[in-house]
Amino acid sequence: AGIRDALDRIREDFPAREDLKILLSLCDPDEMGYLHATACIVRNTYCQERIALRALVEISSVCKNSCRYCGLNRYNREASRYTMRDDEVMQSVRLAAKQGFRTVVLQSGENGCSSQAIAQLISQIKQEFPVAVTLSLGERPWEDYLAWKQAGADRYLLRIESTDDELYRSLHTDRALSSRMECLEQLETLGYQVGSGIMVGLPGQSISTIARDIQFFAEKQFAMIGIGPFIPHPQTPLAKAKRGDLNLTLNTIALTRIVTKYPWMPATTALGSLQRDYRKEGLQAGANVIMPNFTPQCYKNQYVIYPNKQSKTENKKSLEQLARRVGLSIDYGRCDSLLPGWA
Ligand code: 5AD
Repeated sequence: AGIRDALDRIREDFPAREDLKILLSLCDPDEMGYLHATACIVRNTYCQERIALRALVEISSVCKNSCRYCGLNRYNREASRYTMRDDEVMQSVRLAAKQGFRTVVLQSGENGCSSQAIAQLISQIKQEFPVAVTLSLGERPWEDYLAWKQAGADRYLLRIESTDDELYRSLHTDRALSSRMECLEQLETLGYQVGSGIMVGLPGQSISTIARDIQFFAEKQFAMIGIGPFIPHPQTPLAKAKRGDLNLTLNTIALTRIVTKYPWMPATTALGSLQRDYRKEGLQAGANVIMPNFTPQCYKNQYVIYPNKQSKTENKKSLEQLARRVGLSIDYGRCDSLLPGWA
């Protein structure tokens, strides 16, 4: 009964931290089932009963940043570094478009790729294919975000990772939380559909931290929110840390869905990379996006953010089967922002 009351309250009003903490902590299967089912009702009401597809192309593993959780951080000298040629990227995009994808996500480390080279690539993609272009290239100067928007980019993904200043500082040696916030503001101002998100189970993170992250999402109203479990990478300073808890991750997805209602939320690759593939459970907790990997085979194994990253090729049939199993259908459109007030 206490759970039902807490759920009713967070559906109606700005979510209180205490209510979020109670609901995040649920681990009884029936109680979790009730929470996740509520999230699915909210998703189906505000986003319709559908899944959006995004083709992910990991265009470069080069990175100048030093996030302590990430295998691509610049101090990992064992990481192999590549940058795809333009024609290779175009080939991946062509394949995705041919298979019916209407969004491509270009992701990379925070690298030295010139703003111009990326802009050129964006306009070439927009010229040749009827796809939305989502960028996930980290923190860059305002001028770069502007140039890419003018080149035709539609969306940008930049996870906040954690809204806790102290935790953020403990994980990032040479970037500040305020700089990330500023980037998110700039992207919003420039007219991008903006996505953010967090990892669940970071060392030093508590239920309380996550509750505040969810309050941040409730306040900001992002068009997209990605939430996945932290998975320790053996060649990082966090090699010995515990991985993020599955149930806590699913509860975080469900609560974020319930309080934010509209965002496109992926059943993340990290959720698909635990002991088994838990993306189905992610969809059953309120997620509504799948991001199949379209990075060329020869580069896939070099883009190692965390170990055992699920990156098998997926076809239309397997995706449609996954959708059917959770009672959703695939929307083969662009699936732009559903936020009220968006174009
Ligand atoms: N485990 C899980 N997710 C990770 N990311 C980075 N490192 C890890 C890890 N070890 C996530 C971050 C980043 C996204 C691209 O991948 O949230 O924003």
